[in-house]
Amino acid sequence: MDWGLQNRLARIIKPATGRTVMLAVDHGYFLGPTSRIENPRRTIEPLLPHADALMPTRGVLRASVDPATQTPIVLRVSGGTSVIGPSLADEGITTTFEEAIRLNVSAVALSIFVGTDYERQTLLSLADLVNEGQTYGIPVLAVTAVGKELEKRDQRFLSLCCRIAAELGAHLVKTYYCEGFEKVVEGCPVPVVIAGGPKLDTMKDVLQLTHDALSRGAVGVDMGRNIWQSEHPVAAIQSVRAVVHEKATVKQALDLFEDLKATRN
Ligand code: R5P
Repeated sequence: MDWGLQNRLARIIKPATGRTVMLAVDHGYFLGPTSRIENPRRTIEPLLPHADALMPTRGVLRASVDPATQTPIVLRVSGGTSVIGPSLADEGITTTFEEAIRLNVSAVALSIFVGTDYERQTLLSLADLVNEGQTYGIPVLAVTAVGKELEKRDQRFLSLCCRIAAELGAHLVKTYYCEGFEKVVEGCPVPVVIAGGPKLDTMKDVLQLTHDALSRGAVGVDMGRNIWQSEHPVAAIQSVRAVVHEKATVKQALDLFEDLKATRN
């Protein structure tokens, strides 16, 4: 792997632990002003110092993120659909590589929609991005999207998606946690991070999800709603960090969450 590409990946996956806590804030690209991120700057600002990488679109990056930030950016470059449109899967590439370079990003991200009418289109977009990423030394994160069909999140389907993403050259894959998750990781020869998915009932559930994913081979999380929809988002991201980087148990991380919540968050 080229030096520049390795260097950018090392900004995201921290060499000290080989792990990462990415903060996903790209939901508005198809969901509009999602609950608790109606004002992106207000949501992102207090969380940014605690994130190993931030995943926004270019619009939110420009309008709502301080350019002095030292947090690496993983830029979502796919889109073109909305939650009220005919198909969330019908995505194209929305942001050029030239623009990604101008924005000094550490990686670009797109969704792939395996098993849909738009499988070929989104997989070829991945391949095109990887070709450009190899040229410029910029890693590509593939998101194994399921659109509105959350029930698709099972091991056989996610294994298929992750492996295809890796075969097409993705440098990092983002998927969902599932029963048998270790098989998803085993079949994917590049690092895997998990999305948090819709908000879970309790912080204990979020920490358990994080712990289970990491103990079964994920290198980290790229989490959104379960952090910024928390009543205590800064405490939430710090306790997720404890599981990811300090190998805290769920109980230790939950105790930390309760302490932080009581004191500052
Ligand atoms: C979805 O397409 C987006 O990429 C989100 O960033 C992703 O689902 C992660 O966010 P959450 O943890 O809220 O699921």
